[in-house]
Amino acid sequence: MKQQVIDKFLDIYGGPEQGIKVYFAPGRVNLIGEHTDYNGGHVFPCAITIGTYAAARKRSDSMFRFYSLNYPELGVLEMPLEDLEYRQEDGWANYSKGVIATFRKKNYPVRRGLDLFYYGEIPKGLGLGSSASLEVVTGLILRDMMGYADVSMVDISLFAQLTENEYIGNRCGIMDPFTSAMGRKGNALLLDTSDLSYIYVPLKLSHERIIITNSKKARVDVEAEYEKRREECETALRELQQVISIRSLGELTAEVFEEVQEMIKSPVRIRRARHAVTENQRTIQAAEALEKGDIREFGQLMNASHLSLKEDYEVSCRELDILVEEAWNIDGVLGSRMMGAGFGGCTVSIVEEDAVNEFITKVGENYKEKTGLTPEFYVVVTGNGASVL
Ligand code: GLA
Repeated sequence: MKQQVIDKFLDIYGGPEQGIKVYFAPGRVNLIGEHTDYNGGHVFPCAITIGTYAAARKRSDSMFRFYSLNYPELGVLEMPLEDLEYRQEDGWANYSKGVIATFRKKNYPVRRGLDLFYYGEIPKGLGLGSSASLEVVTGLILRDMMGYADVSMVDISLFAQLTENEYIGNRCGIMDPFTSAMGRKGNALLLDTSDLSYIYVPLKLSHERIIITNSKKARVDVEAEYEKRREECETALRELQQVISIRSLGELTAEVFEEVQEMIKSPVRIRRARHAVTENQRTIQAAEALEKGDIREFGQLMNASHLSLKEDYEVSCRELDILVEEAWNIDGVLGSRMMGAGFGGCTVSIVEEDAVNEFITKVGENYKEKTGLTPEFYVVVTGNGASVL
């Protein structure tokens, strides 16, 4: 892939080949721990082998040029360092521009321009972390090309999140960029989003496969709904803080939550907060189950996660529920749930190797019959975090 990326770079920008470097940052799947990363809870994702490739070459002036093989119709976008404002018409390039702007804001001056080339393998809008991988790969390019040796991979993930939050205007959590920067092949990452401490947990799945099913349901209003859930959780936290000293919902056990929940003055907010609390507990338990090699318990916790996302957090939809219920009906499916922000996108399932074909056929047929949509299936392989190739 490296040489192909270099060749395409040369097609767009011309020679010389010398000085071109190639980088990669992966997408992610989240096994469990959904809508916990902005509630001070745990998440349990892993990096995957597909992601965003990028190539860069230094320029002698302070111009930036951007090109993506995924959006050839936009051509080469060219702008000076002093003019990296967000502009709707720049489309995908805003994610790259935004990271450069964030580095500057964080006192990494970025004085010199670059020619940048991107190729993303992750389909957009599926909830597999495509934008985070674009931002993380850009952060890695800046660190490497500008020689910012004190910028750690964790810093790169924080800069990516900041870009998304402040420059793009999407208040997502840290899970996607952190996994893209820090993932490790064969492992899931148990990340405590309250302080960014983390451990790698080997994915002992010798006879099981992780399957992502794309519902093909277009996500409508997902950003607005996401923001609404965040606000509901923030309000619930403030209500609870009147009787208990906590900084986030992630600090509560389910038992303590039961005792104090009446402080929350709306039944909807009680359900939202209950999801944040119980999902965090499930995530910790799931990582322990995996460490013990108890994949059945792990799967049951995934199933419970789905029900909580559906009933308490209300971020599922008919299509995701059908995919999950069809999966649960198949022997050899250990666990299945919706993944990511919700309202469409994908499910994640752990399926015994021998049942994979049956899973794809039966879930595929039954889902199509009930929804008219043809789902897509990807057997996921875990990969490493971002690197220079
Ligand atoms: C999106 C966000 C993540 C996380 C998930 C829900 O993928 O980008 O930060 O909040 O939703 O778990």
